[in-house]
Amino acid sequence: MHTRKRRRALIAGVVTVATAALGIGLSTQFASAQTTLRGAADEAGIDIGIAVDANQLQNNATYRNLVATEFNSLTAENAMKWDATEPSDNSWNFSGADAIVDFAEDNDQTVHGHTFVWHSQTPQWVQNLSASAMQAAMVDHINTLANRYEGRVDSWDVVNEVVSDNNGAMRDSFWRNTLGDGYITTAFQTARAADPNADLYINDYSIEGDNAKSDRIYTIAQGLNSQNLIDGVGFQSHLILGQVPSTMEANLQRFIDLGLKVRITELDIRIQTPADANELQQQANDYERVVSICAELADCSGVTVWGLRDADSWVPGVFPGYGAPLLFDDNFGKKPAYNAVLEALGGDGSEEPTTTDPGTTTPPPTGDGDCTAEIDVVNDWGSGWQGNVLITADNGAVNGWTLTWTWPSGQSITSSWNATVTSSGSSVTASDVGWNANIAAGQTMNAWGFVGSGSSAAPQVTCTAD
Ligand code: G3I
Repeated sequence: MHTRKRRRALIAGVVTVATAALGIGLSTQFASAQTTLRGAADEAGIDIGIAVDANQLQNNATYRNLVATEFNSLTAENAMKWDATEPSDNSWNFSGADAIVDFAEDNDQTVHGHTFVWHSQTPQWVQNLSASAMQAAMVDHINTLANRYEGRVDSWDVVNEVVSDNNGAMRDSFWRNTLGDGYITTAFQTARAADPNADLYINDYSIEGDNAKSDRIYTIAQGLNSQNLIDGVGFQSHLILGQVPSTMEANLQRFIDLGLKVRITELDIRIQTPADANELQQQANDYERVVSICAELADCSGVTVWGLRDADSWVPGVFPGYGAPLLFDDNFGKKPAYNAVLEALGGDGSEEPTTTDPGTTTPPPTGDGDCTAEIDVVNDWGSGWQGNVLITADNGAVNGWTLTWTWPSGQSITSSWNATVTSSGSSVTASDVGWNANIAAGQTMNAWGFVGSGSSAAPQVTCTAD
């Protein structure tokens, strides 16, 4: 076993037994002075992880700082998937994955790798292969990734979402249809041989409670475990407000009883938007419940939250009308759920959340402040990119703003939203559209965005408050 793996402190085990026997959460009885998630999680000997976007990690200083200070484990939200790493046969792109692993190493964070074999985000060239060629491609893909990151990635989701939502039946993916169910064992055998020290996980969603789907995962995990090919089960935990399964703790425990680790791998809790203050409090309670379950189980290796800010989440795109599922709001403010997770990890979550209470209306500020602004490159797909523009009211409230900047190398704006934009050569001027004019003193607003052409850039922006 290599050294970067986090081990629970013995004291944490003792505390767990004591509190479990009393039926009391770790949080309330043993709150420490830790005021960051990372500090509390380190003390408890547990991973608190975050799914990261490689572009934001490289281009947005606020994002980077929070990832470094609040989390002790990273997962690539997309950068280690097949379409990102091997878009065509034997043509590799590790730029995003390397950036994330380098960052983790620089900041003494563990890495949970996601994912070798999945039916989604796998390029067409793989799906079109004959059985023998597909098996060879899968083995080569696993070997290449596992070897590249050996000793730097602590654990891997070897297969992802292999069970369907149909009463626990196996998923009819192209993998299964071409190779039969044996592809799962082959994937684990390959990963085990490639990096014997990495922990190997099977990962899926809607298996948090005791149900037909988790029963199927149990059977698969049992079979792999009898061959010493698996170390853990990842429970994605894409949950809906108020719906933490009542059987979650017992369900995780039965996998632990097999001799396996468990891990909450992709936690988010979605709310019908706009969310009100009561719903944000309910969300905090739900987060506290899930994290407490993991904190109280000695073989739960950690909890990874699936994205940093609400604005980063995949949820609204896939479940229209739902969103706000994460710990930080669009402006990097801490939500009530943040404090709840801090408490569940044993830290001090008594500080007021920094997010604005959506249930109260604040009077329009008087416009007397200075402002600063930065372009946050949130996505770059090669032929174009998306920038979000964050504006901060530095000295007093801002009641209207105008931004100017100069593109460094021929970029231009293809389309934009929530600002009035004019361009002249490489010079850009952008101003508010009324409803986003007011920024309270000290607050940062994710004010507007655009799609850019050319290579992504974040030039210095001059902000003038009206
Ligand atoms: O990179 C492409 C780019 O080439 C393209 O031009 C651009 C146009 O929209 O999209 C870019 O790809 C997007 C990709 O994220 C990277 O940003 C895809 O459209 C988008 O669908 C993709 O979404 C990801 C999704 O997995 C794909 O299935 C989400 O960010 C990611 O959060 C989500 O994560 C999954 C886990 O891996 C497995 N469990 C469920 C979870 C949520 O769906």
